[in-house]
Amino acid sequence: MGELETERLIIRNHIPSDGDDLFEYLSLPEVYRFEPGNPLSREDTEKLLSRRCGGDDFLAVVLKDGGKMVGHLSFHLTPPEEFLTWELGYIFNPRYHNRGYCTEASSALIEYAFGRLGAHRIVAYCDPENIPSWKVLEKTGMIREGHFPRRAFFRRDGRGNPLWHDCYAYGILEGTKK
Ligand SMILES: CC(C)(COP(=O)(O)OP(=O)(O)OC[C@H]1O[C@@H](n2cnc3c(N)ncnc32)[C@H](O)[C@@H]1OP(=O)(O)O)[C@@H](O)C(=O)NCCC(=O)NCCS
Repeated sequence: MGELETERLIIRNHIPSDGDDLFEYLSLPEVYRFEPGNPLSREDTEKLLSRRCGGDDFLAVVLKDGGKMVGHLSFHLTPPEEFLTWELGYIFNPRYHNRGYCTEASSALIEYAFGRLGAHRIVAYCDPENIPSWKVLEKTGMIREGHFPRRAFFRRDGRGNPLWHDCYAYGILEGTKK
Protein backbone atom coordinates (compact mmCIF):
# COMPACT_ATOMS: atom_id res chain seq x y z
CA MET A 1 0.00 0.00 0.00
CA GLY A 2 1.16 3.56 -0.64
CA GLU A 3 1.23 6.13 2.14
CA LEU A 4 -1.96 7.86 3.32
CA GLU A 5 -1.62 11.35 4.70
CA THR A 6 -4.01 13.13 7.08
CA GLU A 7 -3.72 16.47 8.84
CA ARG A 8 -1.39 15.10 11.54
CA LEU A 9 -0.53 11.55 10.49
CA ILE A 10 1.11 9.30 7.93
CA ILE A 11 -0.31 5.77 7.56
CA ARG A 12 2.17 3.44 5.91
CA ASN A 13 3.45 -0.13 5.83
CA HIS A 14 5.66 -1.18 8.71
CA ILE A 15 9.42 -0.81 8.24
CA PRO A 16 12.22 -2.61 10.18
CA SER A 17 13.05 0.53 12.19
CA ASP A 18 9.55 0.55 13.80
CA GLY A 19 10.80 -1.92 16.46
CA ASP A 20 11.43 0.53 19.31
CA ASP A 21 8.11 2.33 18.91
CA LEU A 22 6.15 -0.92 18.56
CA PHE A 23 7.83 -2.42 21.63
CA GLU A 24 7.07 0.72 23.65
CA TYR A 25 3.35 -0.13 23.66
CA LEU A 26 3.13 -3.85 22.83
CA SER A 27 5.17 -4.53 25.99
CA LEU A 28 2.47 -2.93 28.20
CA PRO A 29 -0.13 -5.15 29.94
CA GLU A 30 -2.84 -2.47 29.67
CA VAL A 31 -3.07 -2.62 25.86
CA TYR A 32 -4.23 -6.28 26.11
CA ARG A 33 -7.20 -5.63 28.37
CA PHE A 34 -9.56 -6.02 25.40
CA GLU A 35 -7.19 -7.81 23.04
CA PRO A 36 -5.86 -11.36 22.77
CA GLY A 37 -2.21 -11.87 23.63
CA ASN A 38 0.25 -10.87 26.32
CA PRO A 39 2.96 -8.20 26.65
CA LEU A 40 5.76 -8.84 24.17
CA SER A 41 9.48 -9.08 24.81
CA ARG A 42 11.82 -7.02 22.63
CA GLU A 43 12.79 -10.18 20.77
CA ASP A 44 9.17 -11.20 20.08
CA THR A 45 8.42 -7.66 18.93
CA GLU A 46 11.15 -7.98 16.28
CA LYS A 47 9.72 -11.31 15.10
CA LEU A 48 6.23 -9.82 14.85
CA LEU A 49 7.56 -6.77 13.02
CA SER A 50 9.43 -8.85 10.47
CA ARG A 51 6.18 -10.70 9.65
CA ARG A 52 4.25 -7.42 9.39
CA CYS A 53 6.82 -5.71 7.16
CA GLY A 54 5.99 -8.10 4.34
CA GLY A 55 2.29 -7.27 4.00
CA ASP A 56 -0.57 -4.77 4.05
CA ASP A 57 -2.56 -6.31 6.93
CA PHE A 58 -0.97 -4.10 9.60
CA LEU A 59 -0.25 -0.43 9.02
CA ALA A 60 1.90 1.90 11.10
CA VAL A 61 0.47 5.25 12.17
CA VAL A 62 3.19 7.87 12.39
CA LEU A 63 3.13 11.49 13.59
CA LYS A 64 4.06 13.88 10.79
CA ASP A 65 5.62 16.04 13.43
CA GLY A 66 8.72 14.13 14.57
CA GLY A 67 8.12 10.75 12.88
CA LYS A 68 7.11 8.82 16.02
CA MET A 69 5.03 5.70 15.37
CA VAL A 70 2.15 6.00 17.85
CA GLY A 71 0.01 3.02 16.92
CA HIS A 72 -1.09 0.65 14.23
CA LEU A 73 -4.21 -0.35 12.33
CA SER A 74 -5.06 -3.88 11.26
CA PHE A 75 -7.03 -4.19 8.05
CA HIS A 76 -7.89 -7.61 6.60
CA LEU A 77 -10.00 -8.67 3.65
CA THR A 78 -12.33 -11.25 5.20
CA PRO A 79 -13.50 -14.42 3.43
CA PRO A 80 -15.22 -14.90 1.07
CA GLU A 81 -13.09 -12.32 -0.75
CA GLU A 82 -15.80 -11.59 -3.34
CA PHE A 83 -17.89 -9.97 -0.58
CA LEU A 84 -15.26 -7.19 -0.55
CA THR A 85 -15.53 -6.81 3.23
CA TRP A 86 -12.57 -5.58 5.27
CA GLU A 87 -12.22 -5.84 9.05
CA LEU A 88 -10.65 -2.94 10.91
CA GLY A 89 -8.75 -3.10 14.22
CA TYR A 90 -6.26 -0.91 16.10
CA ILE A 91 -3.89 -0.54 19.02
CA PHE A 92 -2.35 2.80 19.98
CA ASN A 93 0.39 3.69 22.45
CA PRO A 94 -1.34 4.78 25.71
CA ARG A 95 0.98 7.80 25.91
CA TYR A 96 -0.86 9.14 22.84
CA HIS A 97 -4.47 8.16 23.63
CA ASN A 98 -7.43 10.55 23.50
CA ARG A 99 -5.85 12.92 21.00
CA GLY A 100 -8.05 11.73 18.13
CA TYR A 101 -5.23 9.87 16.38
CA CYS A 102 -7.04 6.53 16.05
CA THR A 103 -10.16 8.23 14.71
CA GLU A 104 -8.13 10.29 12.23
CA ALA A 105 -6.20 7.26 10.97
CA SER A 106 -9.25 4.94 10.82
CA SER A 107 -11.32 7.53 8.94
CA ALA A 108 -8.57 7.92 6.34
CA LEU A 109 -8.28 4.16 5.90
CA ILE A 110 -12.05 3.74 5.52
CA GLU A 111 -12.09 6.47 2.88
CA TYR A 112 -9.17 4.82 1.07
CA ALA A 113 -10.89 1.41 1.20
CA PHE A 114 -14.10 2.72 -0.37
CA GLY A 115 -12.34 5.04 -2.81
CA ARG A 116 -9.35 2.95 -3.92
CA LEU A 117 -9.79 -0.67 -2.87
CA GLY A 118 -13.41 -0.95 -4.02
CA ALA A 119 -14.60 -2.09 -0.59
CA HIS A 120 -18.30 -2.91 -0.30
CA ARG A 121 -18.37 -3.03 3.49
CA ILE A 122 -16.07 -2.45 6.46
CA VAL A 123 -16.67 -4.13 9.81
CA ALA A 124 -15.20 -3.98 13.31
CA TYR A 125 -15.89 -5.72 16.61
CA CYS A 126 -15.27 -4.68 20.19
CA ASP A 127 -16.19 -5.37 23.79
CA PRO A 128 -18.96 -2.97 24.97
CA GLU A 129 -16.73 -2.21 27.97
CA ASN A 130 -14.06 -0.89 25.63
CA ILE A 131 -15.64 2.55 25.41
CA PRO A 132 -12.73 4.29 23.60
CA SER A 133 -12.90 1.64 20.87
CA TRP A 134 -16.59 1.98 20.04
CA LYS A 135 -16.34 5.76 20.38
CA VAL A 136 -13.71 5.68 17.64
CA LEU A 137 -15.97 3.53 15.42
CA GLU A 138 -18.93 5.86 15.89
CA LYS A 139 -16.77 8.92 15.19
CA THR A 140 -15.73 7.37 11.87
CA GLY A 141 -19.40 6.97 10.90
CA MET A 142 -19.67 3.23 11.49
CA ILE A 143 -23.04 1.96 12.69
CA ARG A 144 -23.63 -0.40 15.61
CA GLU A 145 -25.35 -3.35 13.91
CA GLY A 146 -25.41 -5.87 16.69
CA HIS A 147 -24.78 -6.74 20.31
CA PHE A 148 -23.84 -10.37 20.85
CA PRO A 149 -23.91 -11.62 24.45
CA ARG A 150 -20.93 -13.64 25.62
CA ARG A 151 -19.69 -14.06 22.04
CA ALA A 152 -15.92 -14.34 22.54
CA PHE A 153 -13.16 -14.82 25.06
CA PHE A 154 -9.45 -14.03 25.08
CA ARG A 155 -8.57 -15.58 28.46
CA ARG A 156 -9.53 -18.33 30.88
CA ASP A 157 -9.88 -18.23 34.65
CA GLY A 158 -7.66 -20.21 37.02
CA ARG A 159 -9.84 -23.31 36.54
CA GLY A 160 -9.64 -23.17 32.75
CA ASN A 161 -13.13 -21.73 32.17
CA PRO A 162 -13.49 -19.19 29.34
CA LEU A 163 -13.93 -15.57 30.43
CA TRP A 164 -16.68 -14.77 27.93
CA HIS A 165 -17.39 -11.19 27.00
CA ASP A 166 -20.10 -9.48 24.93
CA CYS A 167 -19.33 -8.08 21.53
CA TYR A 168 -20.57 -5.08 19.60
CA ALA A 169 -20.55 -5.45 15.82
CA TYR A 170 -20.06 -2.28 13.77
CA GLY A 171 -20.29 -1.85 10.01
CA ILE A 172 -20.37 0.72 7.24
CA LEU A 173 -21.48 0.21 3.64
CA GLU A 174 -20.08 1.80 0.51
CA GLY A 175 -21.92 4.96 -0.44
CA THR A 176 -23.13 5.70 3.07
CA LYS A 177 -20.11 7.47 4.61
CA LYS A 178 -20.93 11.11 5.37
C1 LIG B 1 -9.10 2.04 21.26
C2 LIG B 1 -7.88 2.96 21.06
C3 LIG B 1 -7.09 2.49 19.85
C4 LIG B 1 -8.38 4.41 20.82
O1 LIG B 1 -7.25 5.22 20.47
P1 LIG B 1 -7.25 6.81 20.64
O2 LIG B 1 -6.21 7.36 19.70
O3 LIG B 1 -7.16 7.15 22.08
O4 LIG B 1 -8.71 7.18 20.10
P2 LIG B 1 -9.31 8.63 19.82
O5 LIG B 1 -8.55 9.66 20.60
O6 LIG B 1 -9.43 8.82 18.35
O7 LIG B 1 -10.80 8.48 20.41
C5 LIG B 1 -11.03 7.96 21.72
C6 LIG B 1 -12.35 8.47 22.23
O8 LIG B 1 -12.75 7.75 23.39
C7 LIG B 1 -13.07 8.68 24.42
N1 LIG B 1 -12.86 8.01 25.69
C8 LIG B 1 -11.72 7.47 26.17
N2 LIG B 1 -11.94 6.91 27.37
C9 LIG B 1 -13.26 7.09 27.66
C10 LIG B 1 -14.10 6.73 28.73
N3 LIG B 1 -13.63 6.05 29.78
N4 LIG B 1 -15.40 7.08 28.69
C11 LIG B 1 -15.91 7.76 27.63
N5 LIG B 1 -15.15 8.12 26.55
C12 LIG B 1 -13.85 7.79 26.58
C13 LIG B 1 -12.16 9.85 24.16
O9 LIG B 1 -12.58 11.00 24.82
C14 LIG B 1 -12.28 9.93 22.64
O10 LIG B 1 -13.52 10.50 22.25
P3 LIG B 1 -13.67 12.08 21.91
O11 LIG B 1 -12.72 12.37 20.78
O12 LIG B 1 -15.10 12.20 21.50
O13 LIG B 1 -13.32 12.83 23.14
C15 LIG B 1 -6.97 2.95 22.31
O14 LIG B 1 -7.75 3.19 23.45
C16 LIG B 1 -6.20 1.64 22.49
O15 LIG B 1 -5.15 1.43 21.87
N6 LIG B 1 -6.68 0.74 23.36
C17 LIG B 1 -5.97 -0.51 23.64
C18 LIG B 1 -6.10 -1.50 22.50
C19 LIG B 1 -7.55 -1.79 22.17
O16 LIG B 1 -8.39 -1.95 23.06
N7 LIG B 1 -7.83 -1.89 20.86
C20 LIG B 1 -9.19 -2.10 20.37
C21 LIG B 1 -9.66 -3.48 20.55
S1 LIG B 1 -11.33 -3.66 19.93
